[in-house]
Amino acid sequence: MLPSLRAAPLARGFHSHSAVRGFTEAVGNTPLIYLKTLSEKTGCHIYGKAEFQNPGGSVKDRAALGLIREAEEQELIKPGGTIVEGTAGNTGIGLAHVCRAKGYKCVIYMPNTQSQEKIDLLRMLGADVRPVPAVAFENPKNYNHQAREYAESIPNALWTNQFDNTANTHAHYLSSGPEIWNQTQGKLDGFICATGTGGTLAGIGKYLKEKSDGKTQVWLADPPGSVLTSYITSGGKLVERSGSSITEGIGQGRITDNLATFIKDVDGAFTVPDTKSIAMLYELLDSEGLYLGASSALNVAAAVELAQKLGPGSTVATILCDGAYRYQSRLFSRKWLVSKGLETAIPEHLQKYIVLE
Ligand SMILES: Cc1ncc(COP(=O)(O)O)c(C=O)c1O
Repeated sequence: MLPSLRAAPLARGFHSHSAVRGFTEAVGNTPLIYLKTLSEKTGCHIYGKAEFQNPGGSVKDRAALGLIREAEEQELIKPGGTIVEGTAGNTGIGLAHVCRAKGYKCVIYMPNTQSQEKIDLLRMLGADVRPVPAVAFENPKNYNHQAREYAESIPNALWTNQFDNTANTHAHYLSSGPEIWNQTQGKLDGFICATGTGGTLAGIGKYLKEKSDGKTQVWLADPPGSVLTSYITSGGKLVERSGSSITEGIGQGRITDNLATFIKDVDGAFTVPDTKSIAMLYELLDSEGLYLGASSALNVAAAVELAQKLGPGSTVATILCDGAYRYQSRLFSRKWLVSKGLETAIPEHLQKYIVLE
């Protein structure tokens, strides 16, 4: 009697999903989490899509699967071939997983400024990782150009080209967009997220605009050092990139082909300073029990700001891109926070979470 009595309330808290076949079918269908404390604080309804629950640990599993699936459908890659990509990390991790699951080789070019955790993980997943100097896109030695050239130089290889291959946007239009719409039952006033390739924002944004007859506002959030806010608010002027951010995987110096599919429909944009993102990262841990990377924290800070712009009672969703696991040696290190001038941005009562030296 006792065990079942005790199990009942616990079981009610879990949702069952039917079984899926392998890694690829486990991508997507992530929960949409109601962020209770922030919703109460703002008098709005703030939701975060738990993309860290994808089997490769990030939102980029969707893009990785979409890029490979569309290439297979178009017969651009044959069994046993090589997938090549230029990636700052998460897309590479998604691709490495999908390559193992589907039997492809995986070669990853990345700027040598990325965290060691991400490089190590890619290698553990069997990818051939090639860190190269971090130079601007205009430079022929940029990691993306090196990836393309390598794929062109060997037989049965595909450069997935996550930045300008719109299969990336399409993956979100087909999966995360409909999921968010269904999970909010179409009652969504705003959606906002930061962009790297732009696939997430463009794919979800396009779907939400179509389904809501343009009523759901779709905004772009930028980290410092990205040019997209100024591009959107100036009506299309592209300025030189300057400044930097602690966030990884987001921020852009150009309009990628993925973002180009949607940028004219973006309702607005603003920049979130690192001080706000890091404070939100610690607050989400303390008040919601969510251990998230800096791009997710930026997204939630932006969702709060957008909800406040849209007014009391509004409903806003964003993306919780990945967990803090890949960045913890930086994000929870006092020395690192001090070196970035961010230690004082973390409120006194949250300083206890800075557990690393
Ligand atoms: C942690 C993280 N957040 C956000 C993004 C941005 O997603 P998208 O490339 O779809 O704009 C990325 C992209 O790599 C990422 O790695």
